[in-house]
Amino acid sequence: MTASTSARRPAHGAIGAGFAKQLFGKPAERKLKATLDEGLERVEQVLHDQVKYSDQVAATTTTYLMSAGGKRLRPMLVLLAAQLGPTPVSDALDEAAAAVEITHLASLYHDDVMDEATLRRGVTAAHLRWSNSTAILAGDLLFARASQIFSYLGAEAIRMQATVFERLVLGQMHETIGPREGEDRIDHYIRVLADKTGSLIGAASEYGVLLSDAPAEFRPAMRDFGEAVGVAFQIVDDVIDLSPAADTTGKRAGTDLRAGVETLPVLLLERRAAAGDAPAADLLDRIRTRVAGSEPGSADETLARPEPLVQADPAEIDAIIAELRAHEVTRETIDAAHEYVHRATASLDVLPSGVVKEALREFAQRLVERDF
Ligand code: FPP
Ligand code: MG
Repeated sequence: MTASTSARRPAHGAIGAGFAKQLFGKPAERKLKATLDEGLERVEQVLHDQVKYSDQVAATTTTYLMSAGGKRLRPMLVLLAAQLGPTPVSDALDEAAAAVEITHLASLYHDDVMDEATLRRGVTAAHLRWSNSTAILAGDLLFARASQIFSYLGAEAIRMQATVFERLVLGQMHETIGPREGEDRIDHYIRVLADKTGSLIGAASEYGVLLSDAPAEFRPAMRDFGEAVGVAFQIVDDVIDLSPAADTTGKRAGTDLRAGVETLPVLLLERRAAAGDAPAADLLDRIRTRVAGSEPGSADETLARPEPLVQADPAEIDAIIAELRAHEVTRETIDAAHEYVHRATASLDVLPSGVVKEALREFAQRLVERDF
C-alpha cells in the first residue's frame, strides 16, 4: 500500500492541539483561533484536492511528504495575516495558503536529495524510498502545481512566487558553494537563511495582506516580519540539529555537521578560535576532522569545507556533537534566534493594536521556544 492511498490527515494537530493552544490561550483570542482552525481545515482540503494526479507514481510520490505531517506554519501565517484586511476569508486565501505549503514541500524533496538526508518528518526521505530522480521530479511536479495555483490569483501573486523561487534556489546555491573569498562567513550564512527560508515565510505573510485587501503599507511590514521569523526558525533548527532526540525532530543528531554543513554554532566557534580561544579551536578541529564528512553529504562540494573522512568512531562523533551542544556557542545561537524574533516583532509596529498583532507576536516567540 502506498503512502498516497492512506490519505491520513497531516498532523497539523501540532498547531491545533499544541502550538495554537498556547498561542490563543486568552478568551478574547478564541474567535481568532476558531477562524484559523476552520481555515486550516479548508486548506488541508485544498492541498488534497490540488495534489492529485491520475498517474499513480506521480500521486504516490507527491503526496508522500504532505501526508507525513508538518506544522503548516506557512498556511497559518497566510490566514493570520489575512485577518488584517477587510476580506479575511476567501477561496483565494485558502488557495494561496495551500500553494505556499506546496512550494515548501517541493523544496523539501529537492533539499533532501542535496543533503542526502535519510529522514524527513519521521519517514524515510523520498529519494531513499524511491530514487533521486523520482524525488526531484516529485518536487518539480509540486512546484509546477503551486505556480498554477498562483497564476489564477493574479499577476502580483505569481510574480511573488517567481521571486520566492529564485531566492530559494539562490539560497540553496550559496549554501552549496559557500562564502566568497573575504566574505564574512556569518553574514553569508544569515543571507542564505533569509533566502532559503525567510523568503517563503515572508511571502506567506505578504499573501495574507495582498489577498485580504489589507492596507498596502502592511505588505512590506509583514514581508519583513515573515522573513525575520524564517531566519529565527532556521537558526533554531541549527540547535535542534544538535539534539539527540531524533525521534521527536524526525532527524538524526548532528545531521548537518556529519554532512559537513557548518551551521551557526560552528561558525561562532570558528570566530572564537580565530580570536585565540584554544579550546574552541580544538573542538572546531575535531568537528572538522572527525565529524564532517563522516556521513554522505555536501562536504566535498566546496573548497570552504573539509574533505570527508574515510572512517570515524560513531561514539566519538556523538560525543563531539554533545560537546558542541553544551558549549556556549549554542547558547549564543539561541540568543541570535531571539534577536531575529525581536526584529520580526519590531516590524509589526505599523499594524494596529489588537488580537491579530498579538497573535503574530506570539507566533514569532513560540517558534524559538521549540524544544532544543
Ligand atoms: C531546508 O534547509 C531547505 C530549504 C528551506 C529550501 C530548499 C530550496 C531548494 C531545494 C530550491 C528550491 C526548489 C523548489 C522546487 C522550490 P535545511 O537543509 O537547512 O533544513 P532541513 O534540516 O529541514 O533539511
Ligand atoms: Mg536539509
